[in-house]
Amino acid sequence: MCGIFAYMNYRVPKTRKEIFETLIKGLQRLEYRGYDSAGVAIDGNNHEVKERHIHLVKKRGKVKALDEELYKQDSMDLKVEFETHFGIAHTRWATHGVPNAVNSHPQRSDKGNEFVVIHNGIITNYKDLRKFLESKGYEFESETDTETIAKLIKYVFDNRETEDITFSTLVERVIQQLEGAFALVFKSIHYPGEAVATRRGSPLLIGVRSKYKLSTEQIPVLYRTCNIENVKNICKTRMKRLDSSTCLHAVGDKAVEFFFASDASAIIEHTNRVIFLEDDDIAAVADGKLSIHRVKRSASDDPSRAIQTLQMELQQIMKGNFSAFMQKEIFEQPESVFNTMRGRVNFETNTVLLGGLKDHLKEIRRCRRLIVIGCGTSYHAAVATRQVLEELTELPVMVELASDFLDRNTPVFRDDVCFFISQSGETADTLLALRYCKDRGALTVGITNTVGSSISRETDCGVHINAGPEVGVASTKAYTSQFISLVMFGLMMSEDRISLQNRRQEIIRGLRSLPELIKEVLLLDEKIHDLALELYTQRSLLVMGRGYNYATCLEGALKIKEITYMHSEGILAGELKHGPLALVDKQMPVIMVIMKDPCFAKCQNALQQVTARQGRPIILCSKDDTESSKFAYKTIELPHTVDCLQGILSVIPLQLLSFHLAVLRGYDVDFPRNLAKSVTVE
Ligand code: F6R
Repeated sequence: MCGIFAYMNYRVPKTRKEIFETLIKGLQRLEYRGYDSAGVAIDGNNHEVKERHIHLVKKRGKVKALDEELYKQDSMDLKVEFETHFGIAHTRWATHGVPNAVNSHPQRSDKGNEFVVIHNGIITNYKDLRKFLESKGYEFESETDTETIAKLIKYVFDNRETEDITFSTLVERVIQQLEGAFALVFKSIHYPGEAVATRRGSPLLIGVRSKYKLSTEQIPVLYRTCNIENVKNICKTRMKRLDSSTCLHAVGDKAVEFFFASDASAIIEHTNRVIFLEDDDIAAVADGKLSIHRVKRSASDDPSRAIQTLQMELQQIMKGNFSAFMQKEIFEQPESVFNTMRGRVNFETNTVLLGGLKDHLKEIRRCRRLIVIGCGTSYHAAVATRQVLEELTELPVMVELASDFLDRNTPVFRDDVCFFISQSGETADTLLALRYCKDRGALTVGITNTVGSSISRETDCGVHINAGPEVGVASTKAYTSQFISLVMFGLMMSEDRISLQNRRQEIIRGLRSLPELIKEVLLLDEKIHDLALELYTQRSLLVMGRGYNYATCLEGALKIKEITYMHSEGILAGELKHGPLALVDKQMPVIMVIMKDPCFAKCQNALQQVTARQGRPIILCSKDDTESSKFAYKTIELPHTVDCLQGILSVIPLQLLSFHLAVLRGYDVDFPRNLAKSVTVE
């Protein structure tokens, strides 16, 4: 995820300082969407509207670092006043290319900054477009997919058939070449004082503020037909000029301000009057008038876009339609899981490339053992993947809780490879374990969700899980992305093992279908809510399973205890008869995770042991499992995937259950008592 913010004042005089402040504040509101680098594009010092110079300032790090950088630029006079100005700004969460100034946005068409663009989303066909543009002599400077868009619009402009081509026509031609998801805002020296924004699959809205009455509350959408089929035809289609009667404009002296943003949190403090763009809408502002047009008819086929009045609080907006960040993050998993794999797993060649590890792969392959270290949920991700790592790497794998690992002064050697799993990258226990292993000469690998965190900086190499910022204290999407990162590591290690090829292909096929299967699991939400209604007054809840799904039980029980304050225990089903069976009676709720995997028969034994004590098991099982369901008090049926990936699907119902239980018990899901998101003390 990235955050887009743009601000245009039309005949509303603003100093450069005021413009900076607006852009920076907008970005800070969107920082939860990503914060590894940020940038702005603004006009040059001359306050003439026709001034043809765009100034780019980009900085690695949080928005605060960009803010400081802006004030260091002595070439920019802060007091200079602009009657009309259009500034664009972006906060990035790296996907294509490391976080640095060159890869951050705005991306530009050329060294003269003729066209600049900010982007949220992914362009899936960017490699083809880049190749095409390189063949035409365009030189690229970044590793991003976004730079292709900046170059493409310049290409369309350079090859225009008429001098008076509009900015929105250029954008229209560009987006017809793009595949994937995007929200884009463009700025150009060729169209001073103008703005064009568009979206497909990524959110974008426009806020409007004017002290004068607007000429309309509905903006009619202009449709055009055009058939650009591929890059070669890019310049061949002629476009009609926009009809200005379809424009929104402010009456009176036409003074108006426009705010473009990825979500309303960045706009609401300026105005509550907003227009939500639909996929393929192209919104253009020229001479203070906003017009919207599109080539394809929208799914809803609404011929106009209404200016809506938002009645929401800021906190509410940031959570979207969800009542808590945790819930939002659970539902983000089809996307976050995809983002973890994006650009790393090649489903055509069945190969995996983790850029952060490739230079150390030889050394890792030579090691004596792998030690995977973490705390809480991050530790559970290590437990969940231990078996598949042993299988794919053919190395002994130890999984360790960081605090216990340190308490034991565990022997570590130079030929060990130690993994440190941490969402925040700042957990004190994990960080201390890292320093301990480093001192003993082991190779250290970080698996974190936070670029620039202490763990990612102090390890020798690592993997950024790319799950997007996690706000809810109870970790959810980070777990599934950590899980996948470790599986990807195993796949990368086993690439040249002939005997493992079939297994690798099976797992890679499984990875490919995961986002869709997660969506299917999320459809169970209502059923799980009903289950929570039955369980929320209980004092205790047991969660049992074994093999690949043991970690699901540990993680499910942790979720339940931390946000519902109920006692909950994750039990290895193989240990049942060695003690925990004494807890089972007809009152004690028992959740059993029984999947069609090599432990299925053994899980059936545990099921018999539970029902023989009059327990009433709630079973998480595969859709086609008629055997377990015969003995179940209730079943939650899950889609089937490869055994070693099933834990990604089986944990989601437990994340949802803990969420519903906590809400029904009246607790604040995002801020459980006594807990913090990042535990920076031992
Ligand atoms: C539980 C949870 C914690 C964290 C643990 C480690 O929902 O979030 O158990 O997993 O504190 O945190 P990180 O992953 O940031 O090192």
